[in-house]
Amino acid sequence: EKAGHKHYMSKEIFEQPTVISEALNYYMSADGASLILPEPGIDFTKYDRIVMVACGTAFYACFTAKYWFEQIAKVPVEVDIASEFRYREAPISPRTLAIYVSQSGETADTLAALRYTAGKAETIITVTNSSESSMARESDMSLPILAGVEVGVASTKAFSCQLTVLLMLALKAAQDRGVLSEDEIKTQLSALRSLPGLLNLALDQSSAISDVSALLAESSDVLFLGRGAMYPLALEGALKLKEISYIHAEGYASGELKHGPIALVDQNTPIIVLAPRDKLFEKTVSNMQEVMARGGKVLLISDEQGLKEAGDGVWQTIQMPTVPDALAPILYAVPAQLLAYHTAVAKGTDVDQPRNLAKSVTVE
Ligand code: F6R
Repeated sequence: EKAGHKHYMSKEIFEQPTVISEALNYYMSADGASLILPEPGIDFTKYDRIVMVACGTAFYACFTAKYWFEQIAKVPVEVDIASEFRYREAPISPRTLAIYVSQSGETADTLAALRYTAGKAETIITVTNSSESSMARESDMSLPILAGVEVGVASTKAFSCQLTVLLMLALKAAQDRGVLSEDEIKTQLSALRSLPGLLNLALDQSSAISDVSALLAESSDVLFLGRGAMYPLALEGALKLKEISYIHAEGYASGELKHGPIALVDQNTPIIVLAPRDKLFEKTVSNMQEVMARGGKVLLISDEQGLKEAGDGVWQTIQMPTVPDALAPILYAVPAQLLAYHTAVAKGTDVDQPRNLAKSVTVE
């Protein structure tokens, strides 16, 4: 049942190209030229803003999607964790689209946040792995992520499928709002089609990542850095590492480092830099150099050219394939997940059932 893997988590990480293909097939026309949403569909011209709410890893999927909706579709997006949102009495204007993201569809705080917006938001959508769940039932529309059953407590394939569905929604929003032309949408959709192949190339790095993880397992603190849409992924990478390896980890926006966290940098703290070669690459690299100038040991994750340009003097590297900008958070989720997985295996922790955690949190 683990298909030859030692743990469900590993099986689920390696399933990502397959389940993401299924999600792409579900939401794209057979010729790959257009997006198809389940009835009654979504007309993004009806909304002035989007509110996205979730917990944990699902929240980081929302936070990543904020960058997509704002950059690609030019819609303002507010994101919040459900346990805060449900009590902070946020005013909801009528032309609001509320999107809830939940693998289980049963998380108590997210469900309560959903109920808070019922009757206030114009439309409520749930992006979920469970079409029969309470959240799916109580929404105007539920969008399946098609990840299949996720057994590992640490969410992996559900995260990348959530991201894939949210990116397609952002493209639909851009199309409806006339921000992208039909040709530009087609280009984006064909880039999305390349995602499973790119994910396979990222998975090929598993044994190299395992070697780096043996070193990470010796650390008591790890920092993750990213900019733009890689910032939420830095947070997710840190969450994944701490929840299964019990190593203290924090994610920071690279540009925020000098406002405090740089005080943590020393020879013993690995700093993992998520640096696809996008338009923020140079800025990320200069933040990385600030860390190195203070004796920090950097694990740089980038593509071949990025490692060539910036890899001098770094502690370790992991090479990713070159990726279209919008897809980088989905692709770079793979090394983040594999680092956490192999580090936990090296430490001998219970990967699929980490201490103190439950798969679905149905109490407040
Ligand atoms: C982390 C993890 C949790 C969940 C969170 C929300 O690996 O799995 O942070 O993402 O508890 O759960 P769902 O998506 O079921 O609402």
